[in-house]
Amino acid sequence: WKEKGAAVSTRQDVDANGRPISRIIKKGVKDFNFGRTLGEGSYSTVLAATDRQTLREYAIKVLDKRHIIKEKKVKYVNIERDTLNRLTDHPGIVRLYYTFQDERSLYFVLDLASGGELLGVLKKTATFDEECTRFYGAQILDSIAYMHSRGVIHRDLKPENVLLDDQMHVKITDFGTAKILGLRPPQRDGVEDTAAAGDPMDGAGSDRAVSFVGTAEYVSPELLTDKNACKASDLWAFGCIVYQLLAGRPPFKAGNEYQTFQKIVALDYSFPDSFPEVAKDLVGRLLVLDPAKRLPIEQIRGHPFFEGIQWGKGLWKQKAPRLK
Ligand code: ADE
Repeated sequence: WKEKGAAVSTRQDVDANGRPISRIIKKGVKDFNFGRTLGEGSYSTVLAATDRQTLREYAIKVLDKRHIIKEKKVKYVNIERDTLNRLTDHPGIVRLYYTFQDERSLYFVLDLASGGELLGVLKKTATFDEECTRFYGAQILDSIAYMHSRGVIHRDLKPENVLLDDQMHVKITDFGTAKILGLRPPQRDGVEDTAAAGDPMDGAGSDRAVSFVGTAEYVSPELLTDKNACKASDLWAFGCIVYQLLAGRPPFKAGNEYQTFQKIVALDYSFPDSFPEVAKDLVGRLLVLDPAKRLPIEQIRGHPFFEGIQWGKGLWKQKAPRLK
């Protein structure tokens, strides 16, 4: 499991002749004090941690190597590292600072998002008003625009994967099921699938017969019918999230996954009475079965629902509206 592009610090030292040399020091487990548990997934635990030198706080995702290899998830761990390494220059994406490993675990040192999940905040307030939905919707859209510009489709956008930092600004996370555009798909019987160097974490792992399907409620119809996700699939999920912020529940929800999928492919949803007309118009242009007919990002930015939003850097300097 080779480390590419991980940030490192340098230390000035002297050689045997007293001449200064700088050594590259890689961060490791010993450089952090680990604190509370922030979240737990099937293959990882996220812990709060402090850099002992700088006292800077991070969230460190700790992944169990044995479990990942046994469950054939190596590919997804590599996707997460590779996509995060492509997305280091936007305030709306959780940034990956360092990766390292010890015998038992892999470690991803990430931005700490101390405000927790957008889902948790939404559950506390039940629904967002138009102003809050506009602000959070705009920050999520700006983050999607950035990842798409860098050739990354998230494929599992949902309120659990939208974290909030200490300023209550958006930080999108969980790129383990993302897709990097323009990369050759992994070969079935080529050399790519075999662990050449003998490190089991280097193997691509086995591919699933069908490409990944995200969380039922936010899955796009094209993924269910053609088993193919595209950039517009993230905009379907974005439409579901905007709907959910205003309505307090996702647009497609049923007793089980199969019934949810049936509702999605039939475009079977309706708006609560309280739903603002201008937002109905926007969501109606996103929840469109044909991905080619969904409103593109540039036109979403120009939609009347987002009137008054300062797009670009200014959006991230703004104070988050108070949740009511
Ligand atoms: N839970 C999962 N990832 C997190 C992060 N980066 N910050 C805070 N909590 C998290």
